[in-house]
Amino acid sequence: MNNQEIMEKGQAYVMNTYGRFPVAIVRGQGAWVFDGDGRLYLDFTSGIAVCSLGHSPPELIEALAQQAQKLWHISNLYWMEPQVRLAEKLAHVSGLDRVFFCNSGAEAVEGAIKLARKYFFRCDEGQRKEIITFHQSFHGRTLAALTATGQKKHQEGFSPLLPGFAYAKFNDLASVVKLVSKETCAIMIEPIQGEGGIRPAEIDFLSKLRELCHREGLLMIFDEIQCGVGRTGDFLAWHGYGIRPDLLTLAKGLGGGFPIGALLATNEAAAGFEPGDHASTFGGNPLACAVAEKVVDLVAREEFLHKVQEKGYALWHRLQQIEDPRVLQIRGRGLMLGMEFDREVKDLIQICLDKGLLLVAAGPNVVRFVPPLNIEKDLLEQGMDIFRDAIQEWHA
Ligand SMILES: Cc1ncc(COP(=O)(O)O)c(C=O)c1O
Repeated sequence: MNNQEIMEKGQAYVMNTYGRFPVAIVRGQGAWVFDGDGRLYLDFTSGIAVCSLGHSPPELIEALAQQAQKLWHISNLYWMEPQVRLAEKLAHVSGLDRVFFCNSGAEAVEGAIKLARKYFFRCDEGQRKEIITFHQSFHGRTLAALTATGQKKHQEGFSPLLPGFAYAKFNDLASVVKLVSKETCAIMIEPIQGEGGIRPAEIDFLSKLRELCHREGLLMIFDEIQCGVGRTGDFLAWHGYGIRPDLLTLAKGLGGGFPIGALLATNEAAAGFEPGDHASTFGGNPLACAVAEKVVDLVAREEFLHKVQEKGYALWHRLQQIEDPRVLQIRGRGLMLGMEFDREVKDLIQICLDKGLLLVAAGPNVVRFVPPLNIEKDLLEQGMDIFRDAIQEWHA
């Protein structure tokens, strides 16, 4: 099918939940994708920070094909080798102890909310139910994750939302302290807010938040669904900050394009769950775990992460060279950068698409740069040339 045919069928049969560009992507190779009319694009979205190793990476195809010959699914009634191998590796590279597997980011967040509450229930502090999250945060679209998300525009029309959430100002400790009570069980934060506009937490703020959690006996939850798995140039953003959470959520880049989510926790916090407390039919599926294990093997290497940092600096440098009065700020870490403008960037992103570069916004005014982590440097430069030219043509 060509672009037009795919779009027409999509408009007729797929629920109308996404504002999509009028293009259908049918194939990908490395940092490149092809549409239904055979046009080529450089992909600086990576499926929104998912295809961490680019499209169709041979190592992941091989891991998937090998596992597909052995076992697709058996359920968590039984132990599964790929699942326990991945859990062991994640425990080693993350600095946390135990993993619960699921299939998406929102589910990992749900798991974190449930574990935080159950942990205090098991500690005979069942009154501690409330979770503090942040304005402009994004934690997913299931009802609990949506309630945790501090953005009204996503919540409108879905009430009643869940009780037990309070929202503080990002990078503002006093606003958090004000909300802590005897009913608080946890503070959940993205170390770098993704959907909210690529906003890194200040190190001083995060470390004081950690102290606050210790002092008040609260669990600290990092949502690293977007910023984790090498995106920032560290395997996890917490490694860069040096501030370890008690719970941590992953998804997106973990499967390099194969759906998987994970909730990681310290042994102490993980003891909140006992058999029967939480489950997922597909969670820890052997195919997903075999692919994610390969992603971890490749991304958690020091040389690989070092290259992500180098490419992040190169990208930052190119962004800095753009002299345009509409630019307000460049933010982010590694290959998770954002350029904020004083106006909406929708048209700019459309111009880039027309010129063969895929980009995604993070909020109305921020262009987000999340290319594959293994992108070659010359392709990074090529993409930035297109972006520079597009800005010159953008007359908003
Ligand atoms: C930080 C963060 N948490 C949670 C989610 C939800 O993940 P999913 O769409 O896989 O449910 C996202 C998705 O953008 C995210 O960026």
